[in-house]
Amino acid sequence: MNSFSGRHVVLAVSGGIAAYKAVDIARTLVDAGAHVAPIMTEDAHRFIGPVTLSALSSEKVHTSLWDDDSTIPHTRLAQRTDVIVVAPATARVISAYATGSSEDLLTATLIATRAPVVVCPAMHTEMWEHPAVQDNIALLRRRGVIIVEPEHGRLAGGDVGQGRLASTETIVSAIEAALNTAHDLAGVKVVVTAGGTREPIDAVRVIANRSSGKQGHALAEEAMRRGAEVTLITTADIATTSGIDVVRLETAAQMHRAVSSAAASADVVIMAAAVADFRPVPVSPGKWKKRDGAPTVTLEPTEDILADIASSKRPTQVLVGFAAETDDIVANAQAKLESKRLDLLVANDVSAPGVGFQYDTNAVTLFAPGATPRHVPLAGKHEIARAVLDSVAEIRSRNTDSHS
Ligand code: CTP
Repeated sequence: MNSFSGRHVVLAVSGGIAAYKAVDIARTLVDAGAHVAPIMTEDAHRFIGPVTLSALSSEKVHTSLWDDDSTIPHTRLAQRTDVIVVAPATARVISAYATGSSEDLLTATLIATRAPVVVCPAMHTEMWEHPAVQDNIALLRRRGVIIVEPEHGRLAGGDVGQGRLASTETIVSAIEAALNTAHDLAGVKVVVTAGGTREPIDAVRVIANRSSGKQGHALAEEAMRRGAEVTLITTADIATTSGIDVVRLETAAQMHRAVSSAAASADVVIMAAAVADFRPVPVSPGKWKKRDGAPTVTLEPTEDILADIASSKRPTQVLVGFAAETDDIVANAQAKLESKRLDLLVANDVSAPGVGFQYDTNAVTLFAPGATPRHVPLAGKHEIARAVLDSVAEIRSRNTDSHS
């Protein structure tokens, strides 16, 4: 059975010149065995006729909240589907989805679903690059929406640039990946750490690092989207989706306690946090006054949390470490993988542009014992999170096979 056989796909088409390409997407999905329920916005009717899309889909096009065979079409479509794909997605639809406004059948269906959503933007380059559109896209990504970026090429009116709807092949494989991973961590207990720890010097000053926590938060969100029960232990002040059990803390010692207690029952532990290796001692209880001169800060090593949980690791438990490196990445990563007895090490070169701390993007190499390292090129942190969780799911299924 292929991934599409018997699966329900809502194909939501908004009003852009690329709307005609939705017909090809519908036909490809139907040929692969999917049940395709199309939705068109009012504007989409200006570009293609509903009869064409109805004829090539599995049911008649839905266009209105009010004139449908069903009295509440948005919830019916949203609840029974396995995935929703918006292709093409205009700047207006992206904006409405980001703000949660349910102004027509298409946007109401997006808000009413718990299924994965694949958004395929298509518009002129100037619109795609506008900060309003990019902010909305970043917001949707943070919520776990899968974005299939537009391609570079010819646009309406003879212009050339980024903004063309991605190819049918690219869109269909993104839908397939969304279907395949939608429940692959169902019921799995995942602990994720995120952010840089802050070690106090006195009552007001800390030693910190540049980690933003964005990669760890993306991992937690993606794991939850794939059905996991997620505990996120974080130092970052980033809002999280409801459903994630969040523990907020500050220091390496607090993180050590929280991880040790959560790891006891966890199936997967992902240490994405940048834990301080050293902390100041002693910590001055009040504020160190300038008139007392520059203090001498003495540091002592913190506990190595990963090494500690690795020492009591259960055979089927999966431990994932991160390594932010600037030199000799491969050698350092292999050494960390072995010394910390990890199942997976996610290494990144934080000296490269757009990689690691504070950026919304990352590029990593995945190291696993006995496997060829896998490079994941520069992409959004949610895409990187997906690649890490793909490897985790693979390791889990291998572990389960070898212990059954
Ligand atoms: N880590 C940890 N406890 C620490 C320090 C790090 O659990 N006290 C974890 C990090 O969360 C990360 C991994 O260990 O998943 C690697 O962290 P890193 O700082 O790169 O490695 P170290 O072993 O500290 O080596 P070095 O700093 O010398 O590169």
